[in-house]
Amino acid sequence: MGPTPREIFDLLDGHVVGQGAAKKKLAIAASNHLLRSEARSGGTTFEKSNVLLIGPTGVGKTHLIRTLAGAIDVPVAIGDATSLTEAGYVGEDVEGLLHRLLLASDMDVAKAQRGIVYIDEIDKLAWGSGGVGKDLRLGVQHSLLKMLEGATCHVPPGGARHPAQELVPIDTSDILFIGGGAFVGLEEIVARRLGRGATFGFDRTLPPPPDLPINPLGHVLPCDLEAFGLIPELVGRLPVVATLGELGVEDLTRILTDPVGGLLKQYKGLVGLRGATLEFTDEAVVEIARAAHVRGVGARVLRSVVEAVVEDVLFDLTPGHLYTVTLGGKVECRKKPPIMVRRPSLVRHHSHDASGVPLARTPAGQ
Ligand SMILES: Nc1ncnc2c1ncn2[C@@H]1O[C@H](COP(=O)(O)OP(=O)(O)O)[C@@H](O)[C@H]1O
Ligand SMILES: [Mg+2]
Repeated sequence: MGPTPREIFDLLDGHVVGQGAAKKKLAIAASNHLLRSEARSGGTTFEKSNVLLIGPTGVGKTHLIRTLAGAIDVPVAIGDATSLTEAGYVGEDVEGLLHRLLLASDMDVAKAQRGIVYIDEIDKLAWGSGGVGKDLRLGVQHSLLKMLEGATCHVPPGGARHPAQELVPIDTSDILFIGGGAFVGLEEIVARRLGRGATFGFDRTLPPPPDLPINPLGHVLPCDLEAFGLIPELVGRLPVVATLGELGVEDLTRILTDPVGGLLKQYKGLVGLRGATLEFTDEAVVEIARAAHVRGVGARVLRSVVEAVVEDVLFDLTPGHLYTVTLGGKVECRKKPPIMVRRPSLVRHHSHDASGVPLARTPAGQ
């Protein structure tokens, strides 16, 4: 039996800060996905539950999927819905997503058929906004239906369609599909529905009732996604909806410091490799998080904020020095606290090491 939802949740938790509700839903979906492919080989079939991740930019949608891919033993492919439409008639066919999965499975069809496909920016397929490419977007939505539900798709092994290529049949019945997108404007659609429901038959210009939820996205219904511009058939094939919230300063602070291989750990590691030490005061970390927060693109800008702060250190560091980033992005530099030498006799005979750094004198009695 594969990992339990709780185990997958804990693995995600080590890398993805906050977003508990989405992590929980994704963990359940992934665990069920693993179980389902096992059960099928034993003769039982369970309907699959594809997932839709909704949340603003930079709050961890793709990061969640990448982390999931590392946590469970199935191939995961990440594709982008805009590549299916951008180039018009020369755009990638939806089978291109399966081609990615095939690549992620080392061209092993059986492995690919148990994999996971993430379709980013699926909200960009909405016809709602009208305008150029509306028919094309609608067409792509339709072409996704069969694949999401489960069908035999013919995938060109080399990617692009080529007349001489023999197509690889891939059965998508056991492939888990996860759509993701920011769905800008969906919040208003949900809020309007909730508000209207509560004031049904009354003046719609009345202020919203006080019990309206603070986060309308937590109350998304299929009808809202349809109002946004996804066709009902596609909405129906993405039955598990997980929403991710905006990241606050506190979340961003934790993203800097907490995750396995987190951002600050990476820079500290880099500096460490060159023989110096990098530290950040707690206040400086919060300040970096604040600076990123005002940009309003989630955790996306954290790296560039940190990079700007430590640029000079990276450019011109001296091994053996300790660099401390303090408020205002200022960097204090001093020689690394010398290593305590415990044997007094050594200290007495060598008061300086080769580089001229005075060695510590162990205070008497230590
Ligand atoms: N909740 C989070 N926990 C930890 N890191 C995060 C989180 N959200 C975003 N990040 C960081 O920010 C980067 C951009 O996030 P990403 O997942 O690509 O955002 P999106 O929601 O737009 O897909 C990620 O690579 C990751 O390093
Ligand atoms: Mg993304």
